[in-house]
This record gives sequence, C-alpha cells and structure tokens, in this order.
Amino acid sequence: MDLSFCTCRRTLLMLLVIIALASSALMAQGWPSCYRKIIVGGNSHWKFGFNYSNWALQTGPFHVGDTLVFYYKPDHVGNLTIEHNVYLFKHHKDFQNCNFSTAIEVGDPSKGKRGFKFVLRKPRPYYFGCAARAGLHCTLGMMKFGVRPACGGSKLLDTVRTDL
Ligand SMILES: *[C@@H]1O[C@H](CO)[C@@H](O)[C@H](O)[C@H]1NC(C)=O
Ligand SMILES: *[C@@H]1O[C@H](CO)[C@@H](O)[C@H](O)[C@H]1NC(C)=O
Ligand SMILES: *[C@@H]1O[C@H](CO)[C@@H](O)[C@H](O)[C@H]1NC(C)=O
Repeated sequence: MDLSFCTCRRTLLMLLVIIALASSALMAQGWPSCYRKIIVGGNSHWKFGFNYSNWALQTGPFHVGDTLVFYYKPDHVGNLTIEHNVYLFKHHKDFQNCNFSTAIEVGDPSKGKRGFKFVLRKPRPYYFGCAARAGLHCTLGMMKFGVRPACGGSKLLDTVRTDL
C-alpha cells in the first residue's frame, strides 16, 4: 500500500472556500477533487518533434496526485512503421543525455492508443522519454521532459490517499 501524505494547494484553497461558505450538507457530498488529468503535449499528443520541455514549462505546476496521459500511435515514414513508448529515467544526467541504459519502460507501444496513464504519486522529480530508434526520438525528436509535482503544506488538512 502506498500512502501519500500530501495535500495539493488547490485542495487547500477549495477547503478554505468551502469552510467559509459551506453548510454541513455541502460537506457531506465530499471534497471536490483537485487532481488534474493532463494530456501530455495537449492536442499534439506524444510525438516526434514537439518540444515537451517547453510544454512542461507552460503546463506546470504539477501536483502530487495529478495523472499524465500519453496518447501515441505508430508513425509511418515511407514504408517504415515507427512506434513510440514511454520510459522513466532514474537519473537526471541520463535524462539530459537521453541515456536509456537504466531507464524503465512504463508505457509500451501498445498502450498509447487508449492513453497511457501515469500518476505522479510522490513529490519527487520524474523524467520521461521516448526510447524509440535508439534514443533518436529523445535527442532529435525532443520527446523528453521532467516534472516535479508539488505537495501542499498544511499539516492540519493533509489528505491521505489510499487509492493510488
Ligand atoms: C524547447 O523549449 C525549451 C524551453 O522553453 C527551450 O529552452 C529549448 O531551447 C527548446 N528547444 C528547441 C529545440 O527549440
Ligand atoms: C521500403 O522502402 C525502402 C526504400 O524506399 C526499400 O528499399 C524497401 O524494399 C522497402 N521495404 C518494403 C518492405 O517495402
Ligand atoms: C549510460 O548510463 C550508464 C549507466 O548509468 C553508464 O554506465 C554509461 O556510461 C552511460 N552511457 C553514456 C554514453 O553516457
């Protein structure tokens, strides 16, 4: 079981609003969810040649509990079919160099059609990359980015998530 003792700031803000406004009837309906489901690359999805570092900069901040959704399908270049995947790097340096030797495949080529989902469970850095064509998608194709999901700060209002 993986318990994450984190609150995202938006939860805190919403709680404060609710506490200020709400009756107990409102409270009984439960907390509104503040976790985001974020489509990687937006309408561009997960593909060769899109600047995902820039996308991550524009899309953040990310929060613990957010879900990244990677949509991808094979590219057809002439008569070649080139598949995409999603790897998680262990080290920042390997991410920088697109060195996949110790990276772990989290999303195989078949998972992209329905959207491969990755939950950011912990307040730590995550480095993603596509390892296709011996790292060419990562280097030339810019198919890599890092996120560092933030944790809220309130001890009093900490949320215990058991559904991760
Ligand atoms: C991608 O975006 C980042 C962040 O905005 C920028 O520093 C970098 O130069 C861009 N890369 C290319 C190849 O445009
Ligand atoms: C794919 O294209 C290349 C170069 O255009 C050609 O040499 C090769 O025979 C083609 N392969 C198939 C399976 O059609
Ligand atoms: C890739 O990473 C591995 C393990 O971290 C390391 O042994 C290897 O030298 C690296 N390769 C390059 C080309 O940097």
